[in-house]
Amino acid sequence: MKFLQLITQNLFSKILLILLCLVSLPAWSQNNLEALLLNASPETIQANPELFDYMNNLAEPALADNCTSCHGSVLTGGVGVPNLVDYEWLWGIDGFEMTGVESVMEIMQTILYGVRNTDCDEEIKMFGGCPDTRYSEMPAYAELGFDEASLNNMVDYVLSLSGEDANPFAVEAASSQWPLCVECHGVDGTGYTPFGGPDLTDDIWLFGSSGRDIYDVVANGRVGVCPAWSEVLDAATIKALATYIYYKANGFI
Ligand code: HEC
Ligand code: HEC
Repeated sequence: MKFLQLITQNLFSKILLILLCLVSLPAWSQNNLEALLLNASPETIQANPELFDYMNNLAEPALADNCTSCHGSVLTGGVGVPNLVDYEWLWGIDGFEMTGVESVMEIMQTILYGVRNTDCDEEIKMFGGCPDTRYSEMPAYAELGFDEASLNNMVDYVLSLSGEDANPFAVEAASSQWPLCVECHGVDGTGYTPFGGPDLTDDIWLFGSSGRDIYDVVANGRVGVCPAWSEVLDAATIKALATYIYYKANGFI
């Protein structure tokens, strides 16, 4: 009798154990995918269909809930808000020399800490921004003493950088002031991503391509802000978002 009791008890506990395993299996494999995603390079994620789907299923709803309101429904941006799915970066990524891992790290830095994020306690701010946020400022040159003529000449200089029609005398006159701009836009005007200075030589314009638009930026400055997401989204979602944006920008998906 005692023997039989032991067997049934044992059997019961075995069934219980198996049931428990079955119930926790999806959670376990989810955790496993999460850990894999956090450590994987974009190449590894793309090579693993299960991991790729996991990444995609995290990124798409997070974009719809948090990002498309500003970056647009297909992430192509608008005035003052960059297109996230072209291979033109304001921050961190400079050309195609960077590896996939390095590029995704740069995009993660922007998503985690934002651009010019000031939404934190005053005591922890550095140079006016929250810790680790991307920071720089397009100065307002009208306030810095540029007169009307210098501002107009500078507009012609900027237009000439991208091969647009420009008055050569104005370009010549502005060339002595162009050194003020190179710290953030590069000597040749192709931009400087550590400071978020846009490329002024291409035909992609964050704030518009007309002489009037350019005048307005140079005269009045700009302080575009992307919020920080480190306290809103979890690490796996942020990695998924950065990877997704990297894939889209490269035309991989
Ligand atoms: C309130 C509007 C707003 C929201 C919401 C927003 N962004 Fe931004 N984002 C911006 C603006 C504006 C910039 C450009 C900042 C600048 O001027 O450099 C930007 C820049 C970026 C950049 C840098 C692009 C580059 O070329 O380097 C990335 C990446 C980015 N956002 C990702 C996201 C993601 C991911 C989300 C959602 C989780 C998001 N943003 C939500 C406004 C927003
Ligand atoms: C301290 C860094 C810094 C300096 C110096 C600077 N810029 Fe900028 N500039 C920026 C940043 C950053 C942006 C993007 C602003 C934003 O995203 O809010 C910008 C944007 C612009 C744009 C708009 C580009 C577009 O795609 O719409 C123009 C034009 C421009 N700058 C011209 C100039 C000129 C001309 C000078 C010198 C007289 C100059 N900048 C000096 C940082 C700088």
